[in-house]
Amino acid sequence: MAKVLVVGGGGREHAIVHALSKSKKVDEIYAAPGNAGISKLAVCVNIKDTEVEKIVEFAKAEEIDLVVIGPEASLALGIVDELEKNNIKVFGPRKNAALIESSKNFAKDLMQKYNIPTARYEVFEDYDEALNFVKISPFPTVIKYDGLAAGKGVVIANDLDEAEKALSDMLKDDKFGTPKVVIEEYLEGQEFSFMCFVDGENVYPLEMAQDHKRAYDNDLGPNTGGMGAYSPLPFITNEDYEYALNEIMIKTAKALVNEDAPFKGVLYGGLMKTKRGIKVIEFNARFGDPETEVVLPRLTSDIYDAFNAVVDGKVPVLTWDDSYTIGVVLASKGYPGDYKKGFVIEGADSDDIYHMGTKFDENGNLVTNGGRVLFAVAKGKSLEEANKLANKLVDEIKCENLFHRTDIGAKAYRK
Ligand code: AMP
Ligand code: GLY
Repeated sequence: MAKVLVVGGGGREHAIVHALSKSKKVDEIYAAPGNAGISKLAVCVNIKDTEVEKIVEFAKAEEIDLVVIGPEASLALGIVDELEKNNIKVFGPRKNAALIESSKNFAKDLMQKYNIPTARYEVFEDYDEALNFVKISPFPTVIKYDGLAAGKGVVIANDLDEAEKALSDMLKDDKFGTPKVVIEEYLEGQEFSFMCFVDGENVYPLEMAQDHKRAYDNDLGPNTGGMGAYSPLPFITNEDYEYALNEIMIKTAKALVNEDAPFKGVLYGGLMKTKRGIKVIEFNARFGDPETEVVLPRLTSDIYDAFNAVVDGKVPVLTWDDSYTIGVVLASKGYPGDYKKGFVIEGADSDDIYHMGTKFDENGNLVTNGGRVLFAVAKGKSLEEANKLANKLVDEIKCENLFHRTDIGAKAYRK
């Protein structure tokens, strides 16, 4: 029987832990740091996802059989390289391959070199040069900070004032870190997430999902880390699927091998179906959040076996049920801006509710502990049914400081 350590403490890691808990081969699961919901299924250890040395020490001391990495911050720090150096088996890409997420510049140059369809772009380090370029570009224009910025590094500027502010924040004010931006063409269409297990040139697709980035119903309000998701996607045709797999995901995996940065783990394609074909918006080097929470509940094969197969260079078995899943985020009022923590939550005991930001307070009450707090997932025979069931689950949750969207997946089924 195996011991597994999952690094991270959000809804994504809760879904990974949940899937691992169904494996007959796994008998002990640890999470670092985990959260209140994860603690029902795993032993939570008080180590942050960025404390690489401590994680390596823990994995060695506990003789962990497999480590699974959730967050990008751990990957960008080279956690996989460190674990491998210590002969600990790990599912996730090394630092040089994780660059596909941690540097927009690296990702865009790779796509350009290997002819992978994406928005046209230019890279700038100098404020005046960037501003001069924006002045001759059409609006809206998209300005992206080059490094990791926890979802805050992309600005869609509708006019010169907004562009100037974004460029000043990213290139002059040192708010983010090393000054470098990518400025790219604005694309329009439906976004979708295509996660694939990748081992070098071999690509094993998971089921697709769609995230909902805006805070409020009908895609209004500010951009967030994601307010809900559903799977599978009725608007993706077989032709779209083949194109995304062959012309984007497989080509990218091969490109990384060719650049001596072979990828092992989950490669996440953030894609957009535009009038001029499917294009890449971004790549992530990890499971998406909240997409993972609607995709993994549909997996019918053993995820521990699948992780091991990828790490060992074998073909993983990935099979799916034919249900539809819809998941709704319950977020703290004020999110993605300022919000308060510590509000008591009741009615969130269902196994279909993943915890994104919760903890137990000193009195043992479950309380809010983040911007995104809970993720209620329902399965149905159709998206309509899944939506009804998800909303029912949401209604059972009692907490005075949470809000949610009611229209997750609606674009796909409302005529
Ligand atoms: P990213 O972090 O690159 O995924 O960007 C965050 C969000 O900004 C995406 O999910 C899109 O909604 C939007 N976005 C990014 N790049 C573009 C683009 N070139 N055209 C239109 N929207 C974009
Ligand atoms: N759902 C978007 C992400 O995981 O980055």
